[in-house]
Amino acid sequence: MKITKICCIGAGYVGGPTMAIIAQKCPHIQVTVVDLNAERIAAWNDEDQNNIPIYEPGLSDIVAEARGRNLFFSTDVDKAIDEAQIIFISVNTPTKTYGKGKGMAADLKYIELCARQIAKIAKDDKIVVEKSTLPVRTAEAIKSILDNTGNHVKFQILSNPEFLAEGTAVQDLLNPDRILIGGDPSAEGQEAIQALVEVYSNWVAPEKILTTNVWSSELSKLTANAFLAQRISSINALSELCEKTGADINEVARAIGTDSRIGPKFLKASVGFGGSCFQKDILNLVYIAKSYGLNEVADYWEQVIIMNDHQKKRFANKIVQTLYNTVSDKKIAFLGWAFKKDTNDTRESAAIYVANDLINEHAQIAVYDPKVSHKKVLNDLDYLESRTAEKNANAISSFDSPYEACKDAHAIAVLTEWDEFVHYDWQKIYDSMQKPAFVFDGRNILDKKALETIGFVYQGIGS
Ligand code: UDX
Ligand code: ADP
Repeated sequence: MKITKICCIGAGYVGGPTMAIIAQKCPHIQVTVVDLNAERIAAWNDEDQNNIPIYEPGLSDIVAEARGRNLFFSTDVDKAIDEAQIIFISVNTPTKTYGKGKGMAADLKYIELCARQIAKIAKDDKIVVEKSTLPVRTAEAIKSILDNTGNHVKFQILSNPEFLAEGTAVQDLLNPDRILIGGDPSAEGQEAIQALVEVYSNWVAPEKILTTNVWSSELSKLTANAFLAQRISSINALSELCEKTGADINEVARAIGTDSRIGPKFLKASVGFGGSCFQKDILNLVYIAKSYGLNEVADYWEQVIIMNDHQKKRFANKIVQTLYNTVSDKKIAFLGWAFKKDTNDTRESAAIYVANDLINEHAQIAVYDPKVSHKKVLNDLDYLESRTAEKNANAISSFDSPYEACKDAHAIAVLTEWDEFVHYDWQKIYDSMQKPAFVFDGRNILDKKALETIGFVYQGIGS
């Protein structure tokens, strides 16, 4: 089947960048990205390319190049479904906040709504592709809805998980380590796989395109993230030991990372991992293991999350303890709110949890993040439901300048590894702060010696 029309349901951090690259690399394919959120679609269509809703280095130029040519953003979900040969589902799959599996299982209501919509609209055969990270066997549920409620058209369901990391999405999409496509072993399933393989072949070498059955593909996505998160929790567990023993976690990470069997990546000790994937995917894995009665397997992976929660708490506790056991009414400046650099995404960011703990201790938090708005900061805190929105608003403020955020502060906490933090005038910051002036570097990015020479009391993670 020659593919000329693709649609993607969900214009978020995955759907937006992925479809922009497909459109750029496949000018012969019309790519339409749809979303129920009209504000988000309007932002993607904003004439000023800098106003697109997602900050990703290099993305706005690609959108500007392809938009209106073969890349379209729209709220007309039905029309896009009707016209497309391949439909990507790229909607959010948050952890359930209610009922069975609360706090663990993925909430599939958005996926189910999409499947029902596709079933209602489709008048000819379609390939439906799961792009969102989903628990194993979701494809089966989608298939069941499509086959039982549709207009007797034939659907093929593929799993094609996205491995891009935020902040490097464009590079990851242009040069992926691999593309994974899972499908049914039947002849029709293989034909659908081939149709999608051909789309990616426009810019990805054939040996990098792996094809599997649907469940292997679904499970590989969850476990790739679980393995990555496990490395961070492993190094973070050792960071606490280093602080007690006088070993330095940066030195340990370098020493173990040079073993070619271990490798150097994902060994950066930090205040804890965040993002929309790691925690959610591990919780899914744990839930799936439990549902098969595999309690040891479930406990093993859950420990990665327990360690991560401990690391965030430990960081907040360290601030309180070091500031003479009280942060009440003290201004604590946060450099960074996003869950990592080069993104405006804050989902599950460590900053949210550290701020929450410090606000419980009556601290005043002053945030500076180059890409995150105050509205988002407040939404993140309100979402925890720890206290009223009014109390949150009184306890936290945001600044457009790092120097203003740090002025009169008792301590600075570095929560995100934005490059610009390294280049600040740290003498000027020191002069404007309360003394002693503390820096808690949750990302180990600042120059300890240089800061100590100025007069700061510096504490990193794991040394
Ligand atoms: C992750 C996976 O990398 C990606 O393949 C998948 O598709 C989605 O989930 P993402 O969450 O965007 O991507 O970012 P990632 O770079 O993996 O970072 C996740 C978190 O781990 C961030 O908070 C980051 O700061 C933290 N991290 C990462 C560390 O604390 N130490 C490290 O060494 C690496
Ligand atoms: P991700 O990081 O997985 O891309 P996001 O939350 O950034 O997640 O994006 C998911 C998008 O999917 C949101 O913009 C949301 O409005 C959209 N969405 C959810 N359900 C539907 C639906 N039934 N139809 C269209 N769009 C949807």
